[in-house]
Amino acid sequence: MLRVVVCVSGGGTNLQAILDKVANGTVKNTEIVRVISNNPNAYALERAAKAGVEGVCVSPKEFADREAFHEALLAAVLEAQPDLVVLAGFLVAIPPRMVAALPSRIINIHPSLIPSFCGVGYYGLHVHEAVLSRGVKLTGATVHFVDEDMDSGPILLQKAVAVEEGDTPEILQRRVMEQAEWELLPRAISLIAEGRVRVEGRKTYIMNSDEEMKG
Ligand code: GRF
Repeated sequence: MLRVVVCVSGGGTNLQAILDKVANGTVKNTEIVRVISNNPNAYALERAAKAGVEGVCVSPKEFADREAFHEALLAAVLEAQPDLVVLAGFLVAIPPRMVAALPSRIINIHPSLIPSFCGVGYYGLHVHEAVLSRGVKLTGATVHFVDEDMDSGPILLQKAVAVEEGDTPEILQRRVMEQAEWELLPRAISLIAEGRVRVEGRKTYIMNSDEEMKG
């Protein structure tokens, strides 16, 4: 069983997609062992509780400085002994020490086609506002491994979503979630749980089941 810790900050619809697909067997060989939020009011924590998954809040407000917060966050992650950490709408820059502790074991979902509309300042609705003001016809979502920089690690899965006339940032955000994010993130976890993902430098390779059988 792949032990997965999910980190969240808000509504947790991506978390819900993961919980549902683990429960119905679409995501195989996976156990969600802990949900960690930096925000005590995150609805995602309620979703975890309803699914019978332990929820832990590590709020920066409870610590004297950033360093102490990062230490507590890392401790809360490692205590759950994860094989994989999933950032599902987690609005905290991952400290380098956590990346070093879990090499190629942290994935993130970003609501654009990286390398467009990503990096510092591109989070939440800001991403979709930027997409609309640039006038691109296609956007989408990306699941990538996390390295020391923001949104720069090896890309695992991407899916394009059409921008439509009359879209507002909110409408586009919802379409990207429905058509891409809620599908990609569970699929990424399942592929990793099935041992089908290989990371080499900045690239990832997805083995089909036959290759895996051959070793
Ligand atoms: C998603 O759009 C995700 O891509 C981004 O933050 C949002 C989180 O939504 N990183 P939710 O909390 O999963 O509903």
